[in-house]
Amino acid sequence: MTKLFEPITIRSKTSRNRIWIAPMCQYSCENQDGMPSNWHVVHLGSRAVGGAGLVMCEATAVHPAGRISPWDTGIWNDEQAKAWKEVTDFIREHGALSAIQLAHAGRKASNFRSWSGQGAITVENGGWTPVSSTGEAFPEYNTPHELTTEEVYDSIQDWVDAAKRSIAAGFDVLEIHAAHGYLVHQFLSPITNQRTDEFGGSLEKRAKYLVDILKGIRQAVGEDVPVIVRFSATDYRADGFTVEQCAEVAKLCEAVGADVFDISSGGLVLGVQIPFGPGYQVPLANDVAEEVDSPVAAVGLITDSKQAEEILQTTDVEIIMIGRLSLRDPYWPLRAAHELGVEVDYWPNQYVRGTYPA
Ligand SMILES: Cc1cc2nc3c(=O)[nH]c(=O)nc-3n(C[C@H](O)[C@H](O)[C@H](O)COP(=O)(O)O)c2cc1C
Repeated sequence: MTKLFEPITIRSKTSRNRIWIAPMCQYSCENQDGMPSNWHVVHLGSRAVGGAGLVMCEATAVHPAGRISPWDTGIWNDEQAKAWKEVTDFIREHGALSAIQLAHAGRKASNFRSWSGQGAITVENGGWTPVSSTGEAFPEYNTPHELTTEEVYDSIQDWVDAAKRSIAAGFDVLEIHAAHGYLVHQFLSPITNQRTDEFGGSLEKRAKYLVDILKGIRQAVGEDVPVIVRFSATDYRADGFTVEQCAEVAKLCEAVGADVFDISSGGLVLGVQIPFGPGYQVPLANDVAEEVDSPVAAVGLITDSKQAEEILQTTDVEIIMIGRLSLRDPYWPLRAAHELGVEVDYWPNQYVRGTYPA
């Protein structure tokens, strides 16, 4: 048996293998109301049929101002939660765990999707003023409003409410998006957090927004629900968030009930060198895995079954996440099983050879 196809249990949930679909924005809420649609059912459902252990839905806003674009999905109201139920039901029927990536874009909100325009949508053009840990804009984006201390506490409650709705929507697993320069990452990084209140200063204070979100979520959803945190483990800048800081914050998260760390990188600032290449974020994931007790997931240019298996065999990484590969081939987990010579019992009956009369 390979490690890639070994099940993994996190709290009350067991994933049938260690191939998880990475969250990927679809920008497909045509009415700009955060409502998942048929697109989401088919897109995400296909990847469950394709054999993934867990299918993670895209960055889904906990507040309307937290959308990257007006076409993002949301979970800030009960109507959206009801619509997500169709997605989670389908994923479950096809043997995968469903996860939602709870997100807030912070100062990186209010943009066009790539096929509708370019760059920020200004307030005059129907966009909105983003919020952030800082009043400083991301280059060429709308200038954010720096959240007051009271507003930060209100924002924490948005995450907790969204988590409760996610459970009502049938999601098995929750992920907090703390990566890619979005709001939680804006609090974590010293580059975008110069605050002097209890949410800024030392690493522990910069992590308070995330830790308070996790505490609130754990209290609201109980002990059974797995909670993942996605980090950018480095800003690729000496004065930014580093992998050492990331491991420290992961330990703080573990102490308040986080279960898995999903390690990505970058996104906070422009003009840095990112060492793109096969498995380029695996060393970061391994560094974090060496410091925490919880399982760690690696993501980023993992595109081959042997490569995926080797990562699990030779590092402390426990889970492989695939993004673009699964856009090209929704059935890649089944393909990987075939390539590695693993018999799985979740080939869709409809696709098994011999069901059509000869
Ligand atoms: C179309 C697209 C949308 C993405 N949207 C998200 C997202 O919503 N949340 C997130 O954390 N990462 C997002 N990412 C990053 C992926 O989750 C993944 O980390 C990245 O693509 C690297 O993995 P890969 O090389 O397997 O694609 C997105 C990537 C793509 C290609």
